Amino acid sequence: MSSFLSAPIPFGEPCPVVSSTDTLRLLAGRRSASAQTLRAPGPDAEQLRELIRLAARVPDHGKLSPWRFVIIQGPSKAALVERLRARAPSQPEPGKAEATLAKLAIPPVTVMVVSRPAEAKIPRWEQELSAGAVCMVLLVAAQAMGFGANWITDWYAYAPEARPLLGLQEGEQVAGFIHLGTPAEPPLERVRPDLEALVTAL
Ligand SMILES: Cc1cc2nc3c(=O)[nH]c(=O)nc-3n(C[C@H](O)[C@H](O)[C@H](O)COP(=O)(O)O)c2cc1C
Repeated sequence: MSSFLSAPIPFGEPCPVVSSTDTLRLLAGRRSASAQTLRAPGPDAEQLRELIRLAARVPDHGKLSPWRFVIIQGPSKAALVERLRARAPSQPEPGKAEATLAKLAIPPVTVMVVSRPAEAKIPRWEQELSAGAVCMVLLVAAQAMGFGANWITDWYAYAPEARPLLGLQEGEQVAGFIHLGTPAEPPLERVRPDLEALVTAL
């Protein structure tokens, strides 16, 4: 096994519950890195495989895998950016649409997480939440590997004319573009919510 992580746990084997102060510390300091600050190196092919393997372990009601991953990097990313640039003038705010393409163009690696809810008895909302969880695990795992990461949607996640460029099928939706790389500058702490106002007990 070439992986630098432990080998996948065989089906039916116990998954031990272990404490991890490192994980708690990482979560306590986790911060998105601004996409435009992300530079090479990004994760290599093996690291990407590991990130996706970790992200695909999210809770998934009904085991439907209601999501898929698209890796966007190199010349195909440059080509996508140019095709989207051609569609920026027809967006409601053309200047902003053009400028925000930098968030896709600059980071060396992007993983598009696609939500693809199935027709099933599991509510669509729960399947979409699972896709959100995938995005979140990618962010956390990327930071644990020493990379910066940023979860972005932007206009081309929603613009109908961008759908064929992204290869989206009927019923699919972008859950997020997870931009990955090495931050040129560390992100600064942002305002955090007042938990007193958000936590109650029944
Ligand atoms: C679903 C989703 C979509 C987002 N889309 C954008 C976006 O299009 N543009 C943007 O600047 N930030 C977007 N964000 C916010 C950033 O990912 C990030 O959460 C925020 O800048 C800082 O949060 P953090 O450092 O606590 O992670 C999005 C967040 C989520 C959860």
